[in-house]
Amino acid sequence: MPGVPQIPILKSAWTLLPFIGTTNLLRFHEAAFQRYKTYGKILWEAFRDRRLVWVFDANDAEVVFRHEGKYPMREGFEAMALYRKMRPQYYGSTGLLLVHGKEWYNFRSKTQTYLLRPKLVHQYLPIMNEIANEMIERIHSIRSRSDSSIDDFVKELYRYALETIGLIALDCRLGSLKKDETDSSSDAQIIIKCANDILMLNSLLDSQILAMWRLLGRPVGKIWSKFIEANDQFTQICFRYIEKTKNRVKEVKTEQNQDASILQLLLMRPDFTPSEAVTMILDMFLAGIDTTSHSTAYTLYFLAKHKDVQAQAREEIKRVVGKSPVISEEMIADLQYLKACIKESQRLNPVVFANERTLSEDIVLSGYRVPAGTMIVIGHYVMSRLEEYFPDPFSYKPERWLRKVNSVSANKRSYKEDIHPFAVLPFGFGPRMCIGRRIAMQEMLLFLSKILQNFEVDYEGDELRMINRTVTCPEKPLRFKFFKL
Ligand code: HEM
Repeated sequence: MPGVPQIPILKSAWTLLPFIGTTNLLRFHEAAFQRYKTYGKILWEAFRDRRLVWVFDANDAEVVFRHEGKYPMREGFEAMALYRKMRPQYYGSTGLLLVHGKEWYNFRSKTQTYLLRPKLVHQYLPIMNEIANEMIERIHSIRSRSDSSIDDFVKELYRYALETIGLIALDCRLGSLKKDETDSSSDAQIIIKCANDILMLNSLLDSQILAMWRLLGRPVGKIWSKFIEANDQFTQICFRYIEKTKNRVKEVKTEQNQDASILQLLLMRPDFTPSEAVTMILDMFLAGIDTTSHSTAYTLYFLAKHKDVQAQAREEIKRVVGKSPVISEEMIADLQYLKACIKESQRLNPVVFANERTLSEDIVLSGYRVPAGTMIVIGHYVMSRLEEYFPDPFSYKPERWLRKVNSVSANKRSYKEDIHPFAVLPFGFGPRMCIGRRIAMQEMLLFLSKILQNFEVDYEGDELRMINRTVTCPEKPLRFKFFKL
């Protein structure tokens, strides 16, 4: 198998060095594309004392996922796991993102009922509609009087995502959408900043060069101290809200409660300890802010750049939703074109640019035997930009994702273009797939529908480029203009 050249001691990590290196940590997705161009659709490199195999072939991706077994293993977040072990008073488990094996399986089986069962997620529609409406009100009131613009709109999307997670997870309002909320020392703003910082510092601590800390058993230095500080602040503030919710719901024990927050539902389970429930809620806050905000921002960017697509999406909203301020479950089901707009944006600009699996058995990929225990990185950002899978791959074309007319409805993969089902997997695949995906999609669809109902959206800045900080984010602030319809 082709491989990245090795040098003594540093092995493949020389690629991260300034001047001679070919990899910028912040642009790892672009470096992955460069690796594909240099070595082809499969290659290996040394990662610490192990082998890591990059996979850019959709058939290979399928083979990997089909062999992941009952307990899929996705490595990473080691510094985070270490931090959580240092804070047992807050973290009853290291959490879904980080645990493996049977412990992961048990935790996941108990939690996914509440986050993935469509009926339960739909129950949150009324309150999510309310928050999306408040967000629209906020846009009306904060856009500039002279040219209707809002600078750095991603910051606004963080507020929307946080407020939504707070309400679903804890049935509590953080107040981040209030018209006059600009205070950087407010709880909401601190949570957002800490979540951003934790993901950024985590990507540094998990990287090849800084990961040398493993030799010492624990990280040291400024990045680690900042990581602890951000985690402590984040945990303590979220914990305060969790405690408030716990006290409030102590008396309400009925499972029939339609408005129960996820924390309440988890606390009612006899097989779940309160500290495990708390860990799940903390993970929802950590995993649910940057991901949905950036994904929404990328879609809004493409809609603003492609006025024809925006017009067509608006036509669909007019037909399905009309002027209704409340978007129902049935309406959401009918928003096929808007869903295609999101999917096409996730193809070009995924929030998670590569996924990972470590298998417990040997497999064969592109004719090469890959031993059990190898880190296998599936490079979706690269794969979904290949001509072989997507004709005219760099163009934004939501129509690719529309179902063929007369397609057999049971065959869900019958798209207008022949799309390989493993080429674009924004939420991952299999039993370990994103547990927040239904909430995230509901949140994005509500927001984008209401934006298109209310505004014509414009974007005039530089072309969007991403950087990577565990999840991808826009490199520069995105400035949109919102013209009232
Ligand atoms: C557009 C938004 C989002 C994207 C693109 C996204 C993407 C992903 C991906 C790719 C994974 C890895 C899946 C795999 O290994 O196959 C993942 C895992 C996860 N996500 Fe999301 N996510 C999003 C929103 C959310 C939200 C809103 C939450 C919380 C409510 C969340 C919570 C999690 C958790 C806890 C995991 C770990 C699941 C496990 O290992 O069992 N995510 N996400």
